Amino acid sequence: KRNLNTEIIGQEIIYYKEIESTNDAAKKLAQSGLQEGAVVIAEEQKRGKGRLGREFCSPLGGIWLSCILRPDIKPTLATRATYIASLAIVKTIRKLSAVDAKIKWPNDILVGNKKVSGILTEMGAELDKVDYLIVGMGINLNFPLDTFDESLHNKVTTIYHETGKKISRVKFVQALLEEIEMVYKKLYDFKDILKEWKAYSYTLGKVVKIDNKKEEIVGEAVDIAEDGALLVKVDDKVRKFYSGEVSLYHQ
Ligand code: BTN
Repeated sequence: KRNLNTEIIGQEIIYYKEIESTNDAAKKLAQSGLQEGAVVIAEEQKRGKGRLGREFCSPLGGIWLSCILRPDIKPTLATRATYIASLAIVKTIRKLSAVDAKIKWPNDILVGNKKVSGILTEMGAELDKVDYLIVGMGINLNFPLDTFDESLHNKVTTIYHETGKKISRVKFVQALLEEIEMVYKKLYDFKDILKEWKAYSYTLGKVVKIDNKKEEIVGEAVDIAEDGALLVKVDDKVRKFYSGEVSLYHQ
């Protein structure tokens, strides 16, 4: 923290050796008024939360942190936080490890086609205004692949597994928080963020399959709309998707 070059993000850092979930802790703190930019970080999570109610494996050696943001935006724009976080993570990974990390829409970071990081954004809103966003980020940094169950070895990876090198966690967190702040300052110029985001996209140009509850859709991911939706060309129509499980299509 001493060397942290930011004005907002990480001005307060709440550290735990072990915790159930940094997102849950940050949410409680945000509800009792903790300021924007505060970060909850833990060495290890016992019940890390993933998207869609899944458990997120968070052993020693990884980066597990949640950042409180209080942007002056409508709840419908909250997905911007996920774009900010994914861009900041991908840039930090590339800067400190030189692996070719890419962003899989909406919120996974991949190396090759394996997941190395995930983001879980949670929101508190009042009337039609965001009160707080909890942006939870998990990065598989300094631990070996066999920490994961063998059934996951073709789906997930760690930076250490990819490079054989460990990266200082303090350095990584510092670079990440600085990157988040730089991107966050452009929150209201979302076009700029999107332009940069697209350069690291894994998803665009690929055939994707979207499973929402009603239907299964296959099409080519062609672009990101200004509101953050994924644009998918299905037959001859371009359709918008805001979330849902997007996967590469294998016939
Ligand atoms: C996903 O890929 O499904 C999202 C994973 C998000 C994990 C991070 S780790 C820090 C923060 N605290 C949590 O409980 N989850 C997020």
